[in-house]
Amino acid sequence: MTAPTIRTDALYARVRTVVPRVEWATMEDDVAAIWRLKHERNAVILAHNYQTPEIFHGVADIVGDSLALAREAQHVEADVIVLAGVHFMAETAKLLNPAKTVLIPDLRAGCSLAESITAADVRTLRAAHPGVPVVTYVNTSAAVKAESDICCTSGNAVKVIESLGVDRVIMIPDEYLAQNIARQTGVEVITWAGHCEVHERFTPRDIAQIREDYPGVTVLAHPECPPEVVDAADMAGSTAQMQDFVRDEQPTRVALITECSMSDNVSAANPAVEFVRPCNLCPHMKRNTLSTIRAALELGRHEVRIDPELAARARAAVERMLAV
Ligand code: 13P
Ligand code: SF4
Repeated sequence: MTAPTIRTDALYARVRTVVPRVEWATMEDDVAAIWRLKHERNAVILAHNYQTPEIFHGVADIVGDSLALAREAQHVEADVIVLAGVHFMAETAKLLNPAKTVLIPDLRAGCSLAESITAADVRTLRAAHPGVPVVTYVNTSAAVKAESDICCTSGNAVKVIESLGVDRVIMIPDEYLAQNIARQTGVEVITWAGHCEVHERFTPRDIAQIREDYPGVTVLAHPECPPEVVDAADMAGSTAQMQDFVRDEQPTRVALITECSMSDNVSAANPAVEFVRPCNLCPHMKRNTLSTIRAALELGRHEVRIDPELAARARAAVERMLAV
């Protein structure tokens, strides 16, 4: 099989409004190598919406929010999946497509939510609230998922909770997401004090300041933000729901109250929209770079492995979510 000729110019056209040409010049070698390696290794790159534009628009095959990446991972036919995101996303891909080699370019790509809770914590919560179903955000380890009844993402949490038909759930580990969803569904939620280190930093004052400085701005917030921030926004939704809103509504000015790279990626695809760029960076997402992705493909590292018995229990919780 001959490797395809890589036209990095065509790729640059996708990011030229957010990546200066001089910067792209330092990236071209890695971009071309990654496309060649994907072909040689029969690999695909799944990238979360928080990846930098040269990854998101330049080398990824499939992009999306946590829900889309989980759904798409199930159907990957290539031998290798490189997950340009964080560790729980790579684990979810492995759970849903266990025959594939799943690589995470940097093992340190964690998540403050995933780190906030252990499997033993879930068992303690269950014992304290017998019979109450455990709804677990996908931003958790496979071990925590394995102790859960069903998973959810920010994109489907309302539907998942409503599908249970109960008036009380344990919803872990994101306290703010749980509070936001409780208000939308009217279901009582028992929460855990986990927070996203990116979204917990936004305040209603930030939003008031943005509105004062940028008249007419439309403010979209992620539901991992505190409820008072969601209240101050015009709309709350997952990263894909924010992206769809901008694509469909084409607001004159928009502020995305979420991780930095989202604005770059959505702006590159919507050049007519003016983006106000409040910037809270996720250090875990930023562990992925063109060079770590290239090394992952060259060296076959770092492979995600999950104990089969634990994987079966965790997979059941994720599959129940996907069936909703
Ligand atoms: P979504 O892309 O599912 O909205 O999740 C945001 C996030 O913080 C993922 O780590
Ligand atoms: Fe975790 Fe927040 Fe980073 Fe997403 S943005 S990976 S929820 S710390």
